[in-house]
Amino acid sequence: MNFLKLFNRIGLIAAHRGANSIAPENTLTALKKSIGYCDFIEIDVQLSKDFVPIIMHDDTLQRTSNVQEIEAFKSRKPYLVHDFTFEELSTLDYGSWFNKKHEPLLTLNDALEFIKDKHLYMNVEIKDMHNSFSDETVVSTVLKKIVDKDLQNQVLISSFRHEYLLMIKEKAPNIATAALVEDEHPNELIEYLKRLHVDAYNLNDELVDEKILAKLKKVGFFVNVYTVNDAVRAKELFDMGVNGIFTDFL
Ligand code: G3P
Ligand code: MG
Repeated sequence: MNFLKLFNRIGLIAAHRGANSIAPENTLTALKKSIGYCDFIEIDVQLSKDFVPIIMHDDTLQRTSNVQEIEAFKSRKPYLVHDFTFEELSTLDYGSWFNKKHEPLLTLNDALEFIKDKHLYMNVEIKDMHNSFSDETVVSTVLKKIVDKDLQNQVLISSFRHEYLLMIKEKAPNIATAALVEDEHPNELIEYLKRLHVDAYNLNDELVDEKILAKLKKVGFFVNVYTVNDAVRAKELFDMGVNGIFTDFL
C-alpha cells in the first residue's frame, strides 16, 4: 500500500518524533514505544559533517545529547550537528537528558530498517540544511537510503525547504511528499502546491483556517496539522476535514 492510501482512513495520528512524551525524541526507543498508538511515525533527518543521514530535530546537539559533558568536545560550541562526523556523533548519548537511560544515535538507515521489518509508515521530515549542504546532496543522500531499501511506498517526505520536495518528485515520483509551513501560507497557495507537485500540506495549528482547508480538500490535497496535544482540538480539526495530526501524546 502506498503512503497516500493511509489518507483513506479518518483521523490519522502521527507520533511526533516518535512517542516523545515517554521516551527521548527521535530515538529507536521512541519509535518502538509508538507502535500500536499511531498510524505513522514522524522523524526529523539531517546530515552529519560526512553526509550520514541521522535522526535529530535541533540543529545543535545541546538539548538532546550529553555533548556538553564530553571534555573532547568542549571547544566545539555551539555544537552544530553538521560540524560533527558520524563517528563523533556516535560517541554521544541521546537518552540521559530525558530519563537517565542511555540511547544510541539513531540513523535514517536504522529507522528505515525498523519500519521495513514491521511494515510501518513513516513521515521523514528533512530539516532545512541549505546553509550547510547543497540541495542536491541532501536530497540524493536521503533518497538513496529510501530507494535502496525499496521503501518508497511506506514513507511521506516533508520539509520546510520546499526546493527539496520538487527535486524528490523529479527523482522519485512515486514517493509521497508534503510541504511544511510554520508562520504563513505561501501566496497563491493552491497554485504554489501544484507547482511543487506535493501530495499534502502540513501546517502549524496556528495557521489553520477553515476556508483555506476547504479549498485544499476540494482540489485533493491531504492536510495534516502539527503539533496538536489537546484531544478536543484534535476532534475539532478532524471535523473540519483535517486528515492527520502530529502529537506528542499518543
Ligand atoms: O512535521 C511536523 C513537525 O514535526 C514540524 O515541526 O519543528 O517539530 O519538526 P518540527
Ligand atoms: Mg519534525
